[in-house]
Amino acid sequence: MKVKVTINVLAIFVVLFSASCEFRQQSEQKVTDSIDTAAFLKVGDSVTMLLQKILLENVMQATKAGGPEYAVEYCNEKAIPLTDSISILHNCRIQRISDKPRNPLNQPSAADMLVLNRMKMPGQAKAELVSEAGSIVYYKPVKISMPACLNCHGNENGQINSNTLSVIKQKYPADKATGYKEGDLRGAWKITFQKSE
Ligand code: HEC
Repeated sequence: MKVKVTINVLAIFVVLFSASCEFRQQSEQKVTDSIDTAAFLKVGDSVTMLLQKILLENVMQATKAGGPEYAVEYCNEKAIPLTDSISILHNCRIQRISDKPRNPLNQPSAADMLVLNRMKMPGQAKAELVSEAGSIVYYKPVKISMPACLNCHGNENGQINSNTLSVIKQKYPADKATGYKEGDLRGAWKITFQKSE
């Protein structure tokens, strides 16, 4: 299990390293502000797909080992450090955001809210890039894609078992991330790439 995770993390580093080289080359060639949208989308898609997979594997493993309440503690300790460890590459920052966050650190900015609201509109739940001063921001919707998400994000009258709920309330007194149904937009991945000089 540990070995598998290390390999996946390595894969992300490889994707990001090759990406950052690609972007540098590009900015040397082109002085204009035009960006290679397809390249950013591709990198964003690969990184978030791998991270999603790692997080899911780890949650499943922790649930098997100690039930969902243990998995909540696991996420509490590991989710942000894991995404941060990948963000450590100086040219990007990876976050998960939600308009109903469990962890207050995943609170969206005003600009993020515009994107989340757009993603809720019919047919609009897809990855997109937003160009800001000094950075390019990649967003990808995160949906409640499987019934297992409801063990920790479903309704409080039965879908989340009482032990799990009490650990959630204890670790996240301001939790807003319950009451979801399968298929709902849960939030988004956000990757901020710094534009190179
Ligand atoms: C075992 C319980 C558990 C399961 C199952 C679970 N989550 Fe979570 N989820 C959490 C916890 C705990 C956090 C807060 C992590 C942190 O502190 O950063 C969280 C946070 C998140 C966030 C970040 C935004 C926020 O609210 O802080 C997203 C997005 C998310 N979960 C989506 C999902 C999806 C999609 C699934 C199903 C594929 C899922 N979760 C399954 C417990 C769970």
